[in-house]
Amino acid sequence: MEKMIEAVNVSYIYQTKYQKTKALSGVSCSFERGKVYAVTGKSGSGKSTFLSLLAGLDVPTEGTLNIEGEDMRKINRDTYRLNRASVIYQAFHLFPLLTVLENVMFPMQLQHVPAKQAKARAQEYLKKVDLPESLYKKMPGMISGGEQQRVAIARAIASGGEILLADEPTGNLDSQNEKVIVELLCKLAHEDNYAVIVVTHNEAVAAAADVVYGMSDGVLSVVRE
Ligand SMILES: Nc1ncnc2c1ncn2[C@@H]1O[C@H](COP(=O)(O)OP(=O)(O)OP(=O)(O)O)[C@@H](O)[C@H]1O
Ligand SMILES: [Mg+2]
Repeated sequence: MEKMIEAVNVSYIYQTKYQKTKALSGVSCSFERGKVYAVTGKSGSGKSTFLSLLAGLDVPTEGTLNIEGEDMRKINRDTYRLNRASVIYQAFHLFPLLTVLENVMFPMQLQHVPAKQAKARAQEYLKKVDLPESLYKKMPGMISGGEQQRVAIARAIASGGEILLADEPTGNLDSQNEKVIVELLCKLAHEDNYAVIVVTHNEAVAAAADVVYGMSDGVLSVVRE
């Protein structure tokens, strides 16, 4: 089976006027659909940098990142970010002035899906993340953190992409909500065949993953597979 994502000797350097920081160094690994991957490691080790390359926000300074065999440098990264890979964050980042339902419709509107169809699909995605219908018309600020993260997941899958990236998705949640989110991410990988990649400090989150990578000073190694 072709690998969904393959990193080959990926390095990344942040260059500012005053200094260079090598955030990733010779990272090689791969990601397949149907599995949950955890990327663990200390603060500053390069986890978020790696995730932003996987999200197509930038390209490696050296090495290659292949998406189904195509070099990230050669594909249209705007299209990739719009249609294929979505990111969820610790702080949820929902649009505060849109309702729950409108948040989930948003990626489909960018894709010019007709409003009626976008609404119907948004309702399906919200069902998939188990959000009560009574919350669809609320603003994100009126619902709990765990509920907001479920909306963020619904919005992420609404783009129709196959790659789900998460940066500390449970960092702002209590252990009960953490469990719900982790189970949901596992379900999306195992039942719906997403490639799920989760950056986390959290042991319980890593324990639920199928494969665990560890990042240390920009160098990636396999912890468990
Ligand atoms: N925009 C930036 N400009 C310059 N250096 C940066 C930038 N972002 C991150 N870095 C540096 O790159 C290295 C890796 O940072 P990164 O944010 O990837 O770490 P992290 O593992 O996600 O840490 P944390 O667990 O604290 O989120 C660090 O040395 C950091 O200071
Ligand atoms: Mg980070």
